[in-house]
Amino acid sequence: SAPLRLGIAGLGTVGIGVVKIVQTHAEMIMRRGGRPIEIVAVSANSRTKERGADISGYAWEDDPVALGRRDDIDVVIELMGGENGAAKALVETALKNGKDVVTANKALLARHGTELARLAESHDRVLRFEAAVAGGIPVIKALTEGLAGNRITRVMGVMNGTCNYILTRMEATGQGYNVLFDEAFKLGYLEADPNLDVGGIDAGHKLSLLSAIAFGTEVDFDNVVLQGIGSISLDDIRLARDMGYSIKLLGVAQMTGRGLEQRMTPCLVPETHPLGQLQGGTNMVVIEGDSVGQIVLRGAGAGEGPTASAVMGDVLDIARGLRLPVFGQPAATLTDAPPAVVSAG
Ligand code: HSE
Repeated sequence: SAPLRLGIAGLGTVGIGVVKIVQTHAEMIMRRGGRPIEIVAVSANSRTKERGADISGYAWEDDPVALGRRDDIDVVIELMGGENGAAKALVETALKNGKDVVTANKALLARHGTELARLAESHDRVLRFEAAVAGGIPVIKALTEGLAGNRITRVMGVMNGTCNYILTRMEATGQGYNVLFDEAFKLGYLEADPNLDVGGIDAGHKLSLLSAIAFGTEVDFDNVVLQGIGSISLDDIRLARDMGYSIKLLGVAQMTGRGLEQRMTPCLVPETHPLGQLQGGTNMVVIEGDSVGQIVLRGAGAGEGPTASAVMGDVLDIARGLRLPVFGQPAATLTDAPPAVVSAG
Protein backbone atom coordinates (compact mmCIF):
# COMPACT_ATOMS: atom_id res chain seq x y z
CA SER A 1 0.00 0.00 0.00
CA ALA A 2 0.92 3.67 -0.28
CA PRO A 3 3.69 4.89 2.01
CA LEU A 4 2.92 7.17 4.94
CA ARG A 5 4.99 10.29 4.26
CA LEU A 6 6.44 12.25 7.18
CA GLY A 7 7.70 15.81 7.59
CA ILE A 8 9.77 16.49 10.71
CA ALA A 9 10.12 19.95 12.24
CA GLY A 10 12.97 20.08 14.73
CA LEU A 11 16.10 17.92 14.51
CA GLY A 12 17.29 18.08 18.09
CA THR A 13 17.68 15.04 20.30
CA VAL A 14 14.17 13.71 19.69
CA GLY A 15 13.98 14.52 15.97
CA ILE A 16 17.24 12.71 15.30
CA GLY A 17 16.00 9.81 17.41
CA VAL A 18 12.98 9.52 15.11
CA VAL A 19 15.18 9.70 11.98
CA LYS A 20 17.35 6.88 13.36
CA ILE A 21 14.38 4.61 14.09
CA VAL A 22 12.90 5.15 10.62
CA GLN A 23 16.29 4.50 9.00
CA THR A 24 17.27 1.43 11.02
CA HIS A 25 13.90 -0.31 11.47
CA ALA A 26 12.26 0.30 8.08
CA GLU A 27 11.22 -3.29 7.52
CA MET A 28 9.89 -3.87 11.03
CA ILE A 29 7.93 -0.62 10.85
CA MET A 30 6.43 -1.59 7.50
CA ARG A 31 5.30 -4.92 8.91
CA ARG A 32 3.76 -3.34 11.98
CA GLY A 33 2.21 -0.32 10.27
CA GLY A 34 1.00 -2.28 7.25
CA ARG A 35 2.69 0.20 4.87
CA PRO A 36 6.11 1.77 4.37
CA ILE A 37 6.89 4.88 6.42
CA GLU A 38 9.11 7.47 4.74
CA ILE A 39 10.62 10.78 5.80
CA VAL A 40 10.06 13.23 2.95
CA ALA A 41 11.07 16.64 4.31
CA VAL A 42 12.66 18.17 7.40
CA SER A 43 13.19 21.59 8.93
CA ALA A 44 15.50 22.79 11.71
CA ASN A 45 17.61 25.76 12.75
CA SER A 46 20.68 24.70 10.79
CA ARG A 47 20.90 22.56 7.70
CA THR A 48 24.59 21.75 7.94
CA LYS A 49 25.10 21.00 11.64
CA GLU A 50 26.59 17.56 12.40
CA ARG A 51 23.77 15.51 13.92
CA GLY A 52 24.80 11.87 13.96
CA ALA A 53 22.28 10.92 11.27
CA ASP A 54 22.25 11.43 7.49
CA ILE A 55 19.48 13.82 6.49
CA SER A 56 20.78 14.58 2.99
CA GLY A 57 18.11 12.43 1.33
CA TYR A 58 15.25 14.58 2.62
CA ALA A 59 13.82 17.80 1.22
CA TRP A 60 14.68 20.83 3.33
CA GLU A 61 12.46 23.72 4.45
CA ASP A 62 13.96 26.81 6.07
CA ASP A 63 10.52 27.69 7.39
CA PRO A 64 9.05 24.83 9.44
CA VAL A 65 5.50 26.05 8.82
CA ALA A 66 6.02 25.28 5.12
CA LEU A 67 6.00 21.57 6.04
CA GLY A 68 2.33 22.00 6.90
CA ARG A 69 1.56 23.07 3.35
CA ARG A 70 3.48 20.46 1.36
CA ASP A 71 1.35 18.18 -0.79
CA ASP A 72 3.81 15.30 -0.44
CA ILE A 73 3.44 14.97 3.36
CA ASP A 74 0.74 13.02 5.24
CA VAL A 75 1.94 13.50 8.83
CA VAL A 76 3.75 16.45 10.38
CA ILE A 77 5.91 15.66 13.40
CA GLU A 78 6.39 18.80 15.49
CA LEU A 79 9.48 18.58 17.71
CA MET A 80 10.48 22.22 17.97
CA GLY A 81 8.95 23.05 21.36
CA GLY A 82 7.62 26.36 22.60
CA GLU A 83 4.03 27.11 23.46
CA ASN A 84 3.42 29.71 20.78
CA GLY A 85 5.11 30.95 17.63
CA ALA A 86 6.23 28.55 14.93
CA ALA A 87 5.17 25.34 16.70
CA LYS A 88 1.57 26.49 17.04
CA ALA A 89 1.49 27.94 13.53
CA LEU A 90 2.83 24.68 12.12
CA VAL A 91 0.34 22.45 13.94
CA GLU A 92 -2.58 24.65 12.84
CA THR A 93 -1.37 24.90 9.26
CA ALA A 94 -0.83 21.15 9.01
CA LEU A 95 -4.28 20.27 10.39
CA LYS A 96 -6.01 22.82 8.14
CA ASN A 97 -4.15 21.37 5.15
CA GLY A 98 -5.35 17.85 5.85
CA LYS A 99 -2.29 16.43 7.61
CA ASP A 100 -2.25 14.42 10.81
CA VAL A 101 0.05 15.77 13.52
CA VAL A 102 2.29 14.09 16.09
CA THR A 103 3.92 16.34 18.67
CA ALA A 104 6.00 16.06 21.85
CA ASN A 105 5.15 19.64 22.82
CA LYS A 106 3.56 19.58 26.28
CA ALA A 107 3.76 23.35 26.74
CA LEU A 108 1.84 23.97 23.51
CA LEU A 109 -0.83 21.39 24.34
CA ALA A 110 -1.21 22.46 27.97
CA ARG A 111 -2.01 25.97 26.72
CA HIS A 112 -3.84 25.24 23.46
CA GLY A 113 -4.58 21.50 23.50
CA THR A 114 -8.37 21.68 23.57
CA GLU A 115 -8.47 24.24 20.74
CA LEU A 116 -6.01 22.21 18.64
CA ALA A 117 -7.88 18.95 19.28
CA ARG A 118 -11.11 20.63 18.11
CA LEU A 119 -9.32 21.94 15.02
CA ALA A 120 -8.11 18.40 14.27
CA GLU A 121 -11.63 17.02 14.70
CA SER A 122 -13.18 19.65 12.47
CA HIS A 123 -10.75 18.70 9.68
CA ASP A 124 -11.16 14.98 10.39
CA ARG A 125 -7.48 14.74 11.31
CA VAL A 126 -5.55 13.06 14.11
CA LEU A 127 -3.50 14.92 16.76
CA ARG A 128 -1.32 12.58 18.84
CA PHE A 129 1.15 13.40 21.62
CA GLU A 130 2.29 10.33 23.54
CA ALA A 131 5.82 11.78 23.74
CA ALA A 132 4.56 14.91 25.50
CA VAL A 133 3.77 13.01 28.72
CA ALA A 134 6.38 10.97 30.58
CA GLY A 135 8.63 10.49 27.52
CA GLY A 136 8.98 6.82 26.67
CA ILE A 137 6.22 5.55 28.98
CA PRO A 138 3.15 4.78 26.83
CA VAL A 139 0.78 6.22 29.40
CA ILE A 140 -1.65 7.86 26.96
CA LYS A 141 -2.00 4.57 25.10
CA ALA A 142 -2.52 2.77 28.41
CA LEU A 143 -5.39 5.13 29.26
CA THR A 144 -7.03 5.33 25.83
CA GLU A 145 -6.59 1.71 24.76
CA GLY A 146 -5.74 -0.91 27.37
CA LEU A 147 -7.66 0.76 30.21
CA ALA A 148 -10.51 2.11 28.05
CA GLY A 149 -13.00 -0.12 29.89
CA ASN A 150 -12.30 1.50 33.25
CA ARG A 151 -13.62 4.51 35.02
CA ILE A 152 -10.36 6.11 36.08
CA THR A 153 -10.43 7.15 39.71
CA ARG A 154 -6.99 8.67 40.13
CA VAL A 155 -3.76 9.34 38.22
CA MET A 156 -0.54 10.10 40.07
CA GLY A 157 3.02 10.41 39.02
CA VAL A 158 6.55 11.70 39.03
CA MET A 159 6.73 13.34 35.60
CA ASN A 160 9.86 15.46 35.71
CA GLY A 161 13.07 13.47 35.74
CA THR A 162 15.24 16.48 36.51
CA CYS A 163 13.40 17.25 39.75
CA ASN A 164 13.50 13.60 40.75
CA TYR A 165 17.21 13.53 40.03
CA ILE A 166 17.85 16.58 42.24
CA LEU A 167 15.67 15.29 45.10
CA THR A 168 17.06 11.75 45.12
CA ARG A 169 20.65 13.08 44.93
CA MET A 170 19.92 15.34 47.90
CA GLU A 171 18.76 12.24 49.79
CA ALA A 172 21.70 10.10 48.73
CA THR A 173 24.58 12.57 49.03
CA GLY A 174 23.47 15.06 51.68
CA GLN A 175 24.38 17.89 49.30
CA GLY A 176 22.07 20.89 49.13
CA TYR A 177 19.62 21.99 46.47
CA ASN A 178 21.90 24.62 44.90
CA VAL A 179 24.84 22.23 44.46
CA LEU A 180 22.62 19.61 42.82
CA PHE A 181 20.83 22.15 40.66
CA ASP A 182 24.28 23.06 39.29
CA GLU A 183 25.09 19.38 38.79
CA ALA A 184 21.84 18.82 36.87
CA PHE A 185 22.65 21.90 34.79
CA LYS A 186 26.12 20.57 33.92
CA LEU A 187 24.62 17.22 32.91
CA GLY A 188 22.34 19.05 30.48
CA TYR A 189 19.17 17.90 32.23
CA LEU A 190 17.54 21.29 32.65
CA GLU A 191 15.24 22.90 30.11
CA ALA A 192 16.48 26.14 28.48
CA ASP A 193 14.33 27.88 31.09
CA PRO A 194 15.19 25.87 34.25
CA ASN A 195 12.12 27.17 36.05
CA LEU A 196 10.01 24.98 33.77
CA ASP A 197 11.62 22.02 35.56
CA VAL A 198 12.24 23.12 39.14
CA GLY A 199 9.13 25.32 39.26
CA GLY A 200 7.00 22.27 38.52
CA ILE A 201 5.60 23.84 35.34
CA ASP A 202 6.80 21.16 32.90
CA ALA A 203 5.40 18.43 35.14
CA GLY A 204 2.19 20.45 35.58
CA HIS A 205 1.82 20.66 31.78
CA LYS A 206 2.08 16.87 31.59
CA LEU A 207 -0.40 16.32 34.43
CA SER A 208 -2.98 18.61 32.77
CA LEU A 209 -2.81 16.51 29.58
CA LEU A 210 -3.03 13.24 31.45
CA SER A 211 -5.98 14.30 33.58
CA ALA A 212 -7.90 15.56 30.54
CA ILE A 213 -7.49 12.15 28.93
CA ALA A 214 -8.17 10.18 32.11
CA PHE A 215 -11.33 12.08 33.06
CA GLY A 216 -12.63 13.10 29.64
CA THR A 217 -12.32 16.82 30.30
CA GLU A 218 -10.82 19.78 28.50
CA VAL A 219 -7.18 20.57 29.22
CA ASP A 220 -7.15 22.87 32.24
CA PHE A 221 -3.55 23.77 33.04
CA ASP A 222 -4.54 27.06 34.72
CA ASN A 223 -6.18 25.12 37.54
CA VAL A 224 -3.24 22.85 38.31
CA VAL A 225 -2.09 23.73 41.82
CA LEU A 226 1.66 24.18 41.28
CA GLN A 227 4.60 24.27 43.64
CA GLY A 228 8.22 23.66 42.66
CA ILE A 229 11.10 22.09 44.55
CA GLY A 230 13.29 25.19 45.02
CA SER A 231 12.50 25.67 48.70
CA ILE A 232 13.10 22.08 49.81
CA SER A 233 15.96 21.91 52.29
CA LEU A 234 18.18 19.08 53.42
CA ASP A 235 16.43 19.32 56.80
CA ASP A 236 13.09 18.65 55.09
CA ILE A 237 14.59 15.61 53.38
CA ARG A 238 16.16 14.26 56.60
CA LEU A 239 13.03 14.77 58.68
CA ALA A 240 10.90 13.04 56.06
CA ARG A 241 13.34 10.19 55.94
CA ASP A 242 13.34 9.74 59.72
CA MET A 243 9.59 9.17 59.46
CA GLY A 244 9.90 6.72 56.56
CA TYR A 245 9.03 9.10 53.74
CA SER A 246 10.66 10.44 50.57
CA ILE A 247 9.90 13.90 49.20
CA LYS A 248 8.76 13.72 45.58
CA LEU A 249 7.46 16.31 43.14
CA LEU A 250 4.22 14.41 42.76
CA GLY A 251 1.32 15.00 40.41
CA VAL A 252 -2.13 13.91 41.51
CA ALA A 253 -5.32 14.20 39.48
CA GLN A 254 -8.67 12.93 40.67
CA MET A 255 -12.31 13.60 39.98
CA THR A 256 -14.06 14.56 43.19
CA GLY A 257 -17.74 15.21 43.89
CA ARG A 258 -16.98 18.92 43.51
CA GLY A 259 -14.89 18.75 40.37
CA LEU A 260 -11.48 17.91 38.98
CA GLU A 261 -8.58 18.24 41.38
CA GLN A 262 -5.09 18.60 39.88
CA ARG A 263 -1.95 19.29 41.86
CA MET A 264 1.76 19.10 41.14
CA THR A 265 3.52 19.74 44.42
CA PRO A 266 6.27 18.31 46.64
CA CYS A 267 4.66 15.47 48.63
CA LEU A 268 5.65 13.04 51.33
CA VAL A 269 5.56 9.55 49.82
CA PRO A 270 6.12 6.38 51.90
CA GLU A 271 9.48 4.77 51.12
CA THR A 272 7.63 1.45 50.77
CA HIS A 273 5.49 2.73 47.85
CA PRO A 274 6.92 2.33 44.32
CA LEU A 275 6.73 6.13 43.94
CA GLY A 276 8.83 6.57 47.08
CA GLN A 277 11.50 4.27 45.67
CA LEU A 278 11.87 6.00 42.31
CA GLN A 279 15.51 7.03 41.92
CA GLY A 280 17.30 9.40 39.57
CA GLY A 281 16.02 10.87 36.33
CA THR A 282 13.17 8.44 35.72
CA ASN A 283 9.41 8.90 35.61
CA MET A 284 6.60 6.87 37.15
CA VAL A 285 2.88 7.03 36.53
CA VAL A 286 0.34 5.28 38.76
CA ILE A 287 -3.16 4.79 37.36
CA GLU A 288 -6.15 3.64 39.36
CA GLY A 289 -9.21 2.30 37.56
CA ASP A 290 -12.43 0.89 38.96
CA SER A 291 -11.91 -2.53 37.38
CA VAL A 292 -8.15 -2.84 36.97
CA GLY A 293 -7.19 -1.53 40.40
CA GLN A 294 -3.78 0.13 40.58
CA ILE A 295 -1.14 -0.18 37.87
CA VAL A 296 2.36 1.28 37.92
CA LEU A 297 4.32 2.33 34.83
CA ARG A 298 7.98 3.29 35.11
CA GLY A 299 10.57 4.38 32.55
CA ALA A 300 12.63 7.13 30.98
CA GLY A 301 10.78 10.43 30.79
CA ALA A 302 13.24 12.10 28.44
CA GLY A 303 16.11 11.46 26.04
CA GLU A 304 16.60 10.55 22.40
CA GLY A 305 15.55 6.91 22.30
CA PRO A 306 12.66 6.96 24.79
CA THR A 307 10.99 10.08 23.41
CA ALA A 308 11.46 8.98 19.78
CA SER A 309 9.96 5.62 20.77
CA ALA A 310 6.77 7.39 21.87
CA VAL A 311 6.66 9.49 18.68
CA MET A 312 6.99 6.37 16.51
CA GLY A 313 4.21 4.62 18.44
CA ASP A 314 1.90 7.47 17.43
CA VAL A 315 3.12 7.40 13.82
CA LEU A 316 2.40 3.67 13.66
CA ASP A 317 -1.10 4.18 15.07
CA ILE A 318 -1.72 6.68 12.27
CA ALA A 319 -0.31 4.25 9.68
CA ARG A 320 -2.79 1.64 10.94
CA GLY A 321 -5.67 4.11 10.71
CA LEU A 322 -6.33 4.21 14.45
CA ARG A 323 -8.44 7.23 15.43
CA LEU A 324 -9.15 8.02 19.05
CA PRO A 325 -11.08 10.82 20.66
CA VAL A 326 -8.76 12.83 22.84
CA PHE A 327 -10.11 15.52 25.14
CA GLY A 328 -13.67 15.82 26.36
CA GLN A 329 -15.87 18.38 28.01
CA PRO A 330 -15.24 21.27 30.38
CA ALA A 331 -15.36 20.24 34.04
CA ALA A 332 -15.83 21.99 37.32
CA THR A 333 -12.54 22.45 39.04
CA LEU A 334 -11.46 22.20 42.63
CA THR A 335 -8.43 24.01 43.99
CA ASP A 336 -9.00 24.08 47.74
CA ALA A 337 -8.77 20.39 48.64
CA PRO A 338 -6.22 19.24 51.21
CA PRO A 339 -3.09 17.56 49.78
CA ALA A 340 -3.57 14.00 48.60
CA VAL A 341 -2.30 11.14 50.71
CA VAL A 342 -0.36 8.30 49.14
CA SER A 343 -0.89 5.22 51.27
CA ALA A 344 1.92 2.73 51.81
CA GLY A 345 2.14 -0.63 50.05
N1 HSE B 1 12.83 18.42 31.51
C1 HSE B 1 12.02 17.26 31.39
C2 HSE B 1 12.35 16.31 32.53
C3 HSE B 1 12.30 16.61 30.06
O1 HSE B 1 13.32 16.54 33.25
O2 HSE B 1 11.62 15.36 32.78
C4 HSE B 1 11.17 15.88 29.46
O3 HSE B 1 10.00 16.62 29.37
